[in-house]
Amino acid sequence: MRPFLEPFLGKTPNRPPAWFMRQAGRYLPEYRELRAQAPDFLKFCYSPDLTVEATLQPIRRFGFDAAILFSDILVIPDALGQQVRFEEGVGPLLDPIGDRLGIAALRAGSVLDRLAPVFETLRRLRRELPDDTALIGFAGAPWTLAFYMIEGRGGVDGGKLKRMAYGSPGDFAALMTVLEDALVAYLCRQVESGAEVLQLFDSWSGIADETLFARWVIAPTKRIVARVKEVHPTVPIIGFPRGAGPMVIDYAAATGVDGVSVDSQVPLSWARRNVPAHMVLQGNLDNQLLVAGGDDLDAAVARIVRDMRGHPFVFNLGHGILPQTPPDNVARVLNRLRGGAGES
Ligand code: CP3
Repeated sequence: MRPFLEPFLGKTPNRPPAWFMRQAGRYLPEYRELRAQAPDFLKFCYSPDLTVEATLQPIRRFGFDAAILFSDILVIPDALGQQVRFEEGVGPLLDPIGDRLGIAALRAGSVLDRLAPVFETLRRLRRELPDDTALIGFAGAPWTLAFYMIEGRGGVDGGKLKRMAYGSPGDFAALMTVLEDALVAYLCRQVESGAEVLQLFDSWSGIADETLFARWVIAPTKRIVARVKEVHPTVPIIGFPRGAGPMVIDYAAATGVDGVSVDSQVPLSWARRNVPAHMVLQGNLDNQLLVAGGDDLDAAVARIVRDMRGHPFVFNLGHGILPQTPPDNVARVLNRLRGGAGES
C-alpha cells in the first residue's frame, strides 16, 4: 500500500503523507533549465518527454509521497478550441467568450484526442515512479475554468463571469454542461492511464456568494464526482474550493469528494470539527511561510501535525509553491515531518 493512499482508507498514520501543490515549477533550477527547451508553455504541457521529467524532478529531489501530473488546468479550454496562451510575467491569456456564439463554437468532440499527450505522460509516469509514490491526476473545476474562459485572464474580480451567470443563466448553464462533460471524460481517461487519485482545483470558488457557490461550485462538482465514480468507484477524489471560507464545510458534506484541501485562511482544527470523521483533510501551510523559512516555519509545521493527529490527513500547502521559494525550505519541512532535525 502506498503511504499516500492510507488516509483515504480511514487510516491515521503518525507521519502524514505529504505533497505540495505546484511542487514542480520555477522555484527549482532543474525545472527552469527544462522549461527553456519549450518556451511556449502549452507546447511544454503537450510534450510527454518534458512533462514526465518535470513531474519526476521534485520526487527525486525531495521524495514526496505523491507526484502530481505536470500539466495545467487550462488545457481543457485549449482542447475545446479556445485560444489560450501564457505570457511571461502576465500568466494565462485567453480570447474571452462573451456570449452564446462563443459557447457554441467550442468543439467538445475532439477533447480527448487533443489531450492524448497527457494520458501518455500518466502511463509513462506510473512505470517510472518509485513503488511507494502515488500518482495524482487533476483538472480545474467548471467554475474556475469558466472564470478564465469568460474573463480571459486571472487577476480580475470575476465581474464578467458573474454577469453571465446572473444575466444569461441559460447560456452559462450551457457552458457549464460542456465543461462537466469534458471533465468527466478527461478525468476517467486519466484514471485509465494511471492516475490513482484525482484533485479538482476550484481556485476561484472564493468569489461566489452562497447561492452561486451552491449552484455552480457544489452542484457541478457533485455531478462530476458521481459520474467519475460510476466508472471508477474506488478512485479517491480531493476537492480544493480555494477561498470558500466556512462554505468549505457545505462543500465537504455535499459534493461526494473523499478529501477537501483547505487554504491557509481556514483553521484545520476548525475544519476537523466540522467535517465528517472519515473526510480526509489536506493543507494548509502558508506558502509565504515556506518562502520565509526559519523557526516560524518549523512551528507552523508542528502545529498542523498536532492539530491533525488522529484524523485522516495529507500535509500540503494552502496554495501552490511560489517561484521565490528556497528549495532548502521544502526539504526542511519534509525532514521535520519525518521526524528529523529536532522534531519535538
Ligand atoms: O506541480 C504541480 O502542481 C503540477 C502542475 C500544475 C501547474 N498548474 C503548472 C504550471 C498545476 C496543478 C496547475 C494548476 C493550475 N493552473 C491552477 C490551479 C491551482 C492554483 O494555482 O490555483 C490554475 C489557476 C492554473 C492557471 C495558471 N497556470 C496560472 C494562473 C499560471 C500563471 C501563474 C504562474 O505561476 O506563472 C499558470 C502557469 C503555470 N502552470 C506554471 C506552472 C509550473 C508556470 C509556467 C512557467 O513555467 O512559466
